[in-house]
Amino acid sequence: MKFFVDTANLDQIREAHAMGVLDGVTTNPSLMARENIRGEEACRRHYVEICRIVQGDVSAEVIATDFEGMVREGESLAALDPHIVVKLPCTAEGIRAVRYFADRGIRTNCTLVFSVGQALLAAKAGATYVSPFVGRLDDISEDGVELVAHIVRVYRAYGFKTQVLAASIRHTRHIIQCLDAGADVATCPLAAIKGLLKHPLTESGLAQFLADHARVNG
Ligand code: E4P
Repeated sequence: MKFFVDTANLDQIREAHAMGVLDGVTTNPSLMARENIRGEEACRRHYVEICRIVQGDVSAEVIATDFEGMVREGESLAALDPHIVVKLPCTAEGIRAVRYFADRGIRTNCTLVFSVGQALLAAKAGATYVSPFVGRLDDISEDGVELVAHIVRVYRAYGFKTQVLAASIRHTRHIIQCLDAGADVATCPLAAIKGLLKHPLTESGLAQFLADHARVNG
């Protein structure tokens, strides 16, 4: 399973990259706003900076909601760097844009996916990634991980090449559950990735090793 970090924060992206396990980055307009990045030019510079750090797939989301606007924005984003993946909402216009980009060899991430039907359309249109939102479904008492598993089952049964990118991951357990569900990618907050390392027996075991070494070596 590939690991993407779900942030536009450059320090967090650098930290995740330095861990040596990072395969890419996903951003969205809310994450860009959280970093106070204003205006088209500043956004473009920020995406280029992210690509410079990561050298892996970087999802950059369009703001336009109409087909022509999505095509214009997506083409301009894709031209920034070969690692850019154009992120498009799972709407009728978005699916049309996914098809447009697929026909031209431009990679896409179809986002805001909350049902198997949406995932089916994204795959049929030729999306590179589909992003089911696990946490947001859990927030409304639905089962986000089950949706990931369902999409994986359908894609495998019908041989779709679209990769299932589990998004809206809120904590470390979600990562393990999406791994079990067969997700190709999990895009996670940095804290959730770091949570995978935590185990009290690792911490107490290391403390004991160091104490024993110090006792004998002074
Ligand atoms: C990533 O592609 C999504 O935009 C993101 O994971 C959404 O996460 P949230 O539900 O925590 O905002």
